[in-house]
Amino acid sequence: MIGYICEPLGNQHDRTHFDCGVSVLNDYLAKYAKQDVKRKASAVFVLVNRDDPKRILGFYTLCATSVELSELPEEVIRKLPRYPEIPAILIGRLARDMNSPGVGQLLLADAIARCVRVASEIAASMIVVDSKGDAATRFYAKFGFISLPKLTDRMFFPMQTAEKL
Ligand SMILES: CC(C)(COP(=O)(O)OP(=O)(O)OC[C@H]1O[C@@H](n2cnc3c(N)ncnc32)[C@H](O)[C@@H]1OP(=O)(O)O)[C@@H](O)C(=O)NCCC(=O)NCCS
Repeated sequence: MIGYICEPLGNQHDRTHFDCGVSVLNDYLAKYAKQDVKRKASAVFVLVNRDDPKRILGFYTLCATSVELSELPEEVIRKLPRYPEIPAILIGRLARDMNSPGVGQLLLADAIARCVRVASEIAASMIVVDSKGDAATRFYAKFGFISLPKLTDRMFFPMQTAEKL
């Protein structure tokens, strides 16, 4: 990520001018992200340019979650332990500013790399995303995320596959 830094959201970042085109995500960053961080509901990471470190180009959130074993496709279940709930990390939100097209894949790559690092200390078998709409589903599918058969807006990516990337 030459020229960019992905770091935890902090007081130095300007949250008010971010515009990804989706008002619920803009509002989340401007009004709720700091509270979520404080209350440990989500960790929020922002992408900035090294030359302009206050301006947020994109952000994503991570938190712990679980997936019911029965929600997963049969071929995936075969490779997993038979517990009713499978531990996972949720990329709950991911968005880039409309003036920074092309950084979506940087955000996703950074989020996946962070999930792999975290899962080496606190096990999680899956990375899960809430895709929020057809365009987002196509974006995540391009990188190998698979829709859950019963919950099409929720997609998953096996941690073992992420480790190999
Ligand atoms: C989804 C989003 C993050 C993609 O960001 P981006 O900067 O446009 O993505 P990139 O340019 O890095 O795209 C990487 C690849 O995905 C593809 N892609 C991006 N959006 C796509 C879409 N809607 N449908 C299909 N492919 C898409 C790109 O074509 C590119 O492929 P290529 O390298 O073969 O050209 C961005 O559009 C966004 O922030 N949208 C609003 C918020 C949102 O919907 N977030 C997701 C759910 S929380």
